[in-house]
Amino acid sequence: MCGIVGYLGPKSVDSVLIVGLTRLEYRGYDSAGIAVLDKNEIVVRKEKGKIKDLEELLLSHPVEGNVGIGHTRWATHGEPNRQNAHPHIDTAGSTAVVHNGIVENHHALRLELIDKGHVFHTETDTEVIPHLFEQYYKELKDAPKALKATVDRLEGRFAFVLLLDKFPDRLFFARNGSPLVYGKGRGESFLASDVSAIVPAAKEHFHIENDQWGWITKDGLHLHNGTSEPLPFELTRTQFDVKTLDRGGYEHFMLKEIHEQPGIIRGIIQNRLNDEGLVTLPEMQLPNDFLNRVTRCIITSAGTSWHAGIVGKFYLEQFARLSTEVDISSEFRYRNPIADGETLVVAISQSGETADTLAGIHQAKAKFCRVLSFVNVTTSSIARESEAFIDLMAGPEIGVASTKAYTAQVMSLLLYAQFMGGIKWLGSKEDRLAILREIRLLPEKMERILARAEELKHWAHELRDSKDFVFLGRQHNHPTALEGALKLKEIAYVHASGYAGGEFKHGPIALISDQIPVVCIAPRGELYEKMISNIEEVRSRKGRILSICTEGDEMVRSKSDFCFEIPECPDYLSPLLAVIPLQLFAYYSALERGCEPDQPRNLAKSVTVE
Ligand code: G6P
Repeated sequence: MCGIVGYLGPKSVDSVLIVGLTRLEYRGYDSAGIAVLDKNEIVVRKEKGKIKDLEELLLSHPVEGNVGIGHTRWATHGEPNRQNAHPHIDTAGSTAVVHNGIVENHHALRLELIDKGHVFHTETDTEVIPHLFEQYYKELKDAPKALKATVDRLEGRFAFVLLLDKFPDRLFFARNGSPLVYGKGRGESFLASDVSAIVPAAKEHFHIENDQWGWITKDGLHLHNGTSEPLPFELTRTQFDVKTLDRGGYEHFMLKEIHEQPGIIRGIIQNRLNDEGLVTLPEMQLPNDFLNRVTRCIITSAGTSWHAGIVGKFYLEQFARLSTEVDISSEFRYRNPIADGETLVVAISQSGETADTLAGIHQAKAKFCRVLSFVNVTTSSIARESEAFIDLMAGPEIGVASTKAYTAQVMSLLLYAQFMGGIKWLGSKEDRLAILREIRLLPEKMERILARAEELKHWAHELRDSKDFVFLGRQHNHPTALEGALKLKEIAYVHASGYAGGEFKHGPIALISDQIPVVCIAPRGELYEKMISNIEEVRSRKGRILSICTEGDEMVRSKSDFCFEIPECPDYLSPLLAVIPLQLFAYYSALERGCEPDQPRNLAKSVTVE
């Protein structure tokens, strides 16, 4: 949801900014821009489109300098065009700003500033920031004081970086709600929305906290909050494998990430499960006596993470007998849930920065609930604001549509439910060992599915003209149906809806015709017969059946137009296998329809606005 980066040091700033912005492109990619101090004058270059479009502009209109700021945008206020692209400047052209977040009181501020003679050029909320700073700098004649006065007037969530022509050796910044990290290299300093933008050069880093502001020079960070005294801080050694930011020979990150799933699940198993089937979660620092008292969980999450949460509900109820609700974060935060100190709120988030989920955490804490988060980025806001977190161990996920983080979430929730079951003395050693045996077989079963990706490519080709899809699944695979439909919508722009199989007859069945393919997730298991009934219902209305069934299931195959077999497994593991063909189907459908799977239109990977 917008990525920002700033640099001060010996290198050519435009190349540093372009590398950083390319790494942050997952946060938004409708327009991009940079501002550079070129011979003591702020020069802005911005362009509609992706970073490569900005790069082309820079080839024809180069800039030179060693200090600058950059931005990649996911539009909130104002159409995504060149004019509304960041950086934004003040009336005199002395201050340039890149911003991630929303200034909620921008309208009132804009009117106030126009009254004072400021001239605005864009429709963005951000543009008030350079003008406010300009105004306060004129009045206070002191940059830190003007910055503090500016910050005090802004409502909403923000992280921004200011470039001032009068201070060629500094970049000013402030944070309240949106992420911002300081990076220190050798004789150079960085600011960025996340650490991936500034590695490997930033050898050490520090996550700026809410309400902190200050400036960087090429040699260091000057940090403040409400008081005028500088704040102490501790730099952390940056450990980030830059290779994970590479497509590794795959055409797209999404495909690479789909194929990484067996390895990730293997890693989670090795790290978390011992030979007795006991789960270890060393980073999860919640006291056992509290966990023992927990009788109720509320899971809150968004998008794909919400689907993982629904699978998690089954696990927590089945293995730990914990009454569990699952709520979409943006609903949870406004619904005034009934919760108290004995309720555990579980937040699930790949990025750890989703604003709705973060706001839900604040709500939960206000009700004295303890919050445990499942995050893929352990330095994220959600991880830091939760009482404890569980690391998803999926490695950086770059493709906007979540794939490997989903299976890592589902797997981690399963292990957490096992862990809670253990704390409550549920299940015998034999049960545990049986589950362990099944879990250990998963990675190899996933690999068998991936080896047959071509079959899904064929589905995508044959169904390239279909405009609507229905996905059906029951129990553990109801969320798989929701996720399969979401993937297709997200990256192939095809309308698709997921339903619980039993709910199908209560309305959605009216949609069925020979124009609507129905994806039926029907592995062998407890509700297999019920899914067969769904298949029959669709067949009798001339719908086309695409089925996901268990290896060797001739009956489902004979009733289907297209059939993809997954290896046999217990019900509770089937979501981890059944989702993979649906991810691949969405991926190949996107390619068939000429869509860009890694950067789907209108979406961003990290949604840091409400
Ligand atoms: C965005 C992404 C989705 C993701 C959702 C939740 O909408 O496009 O892929 O599932 O945010 O993100 P989170 O980082 O909280 O899991």
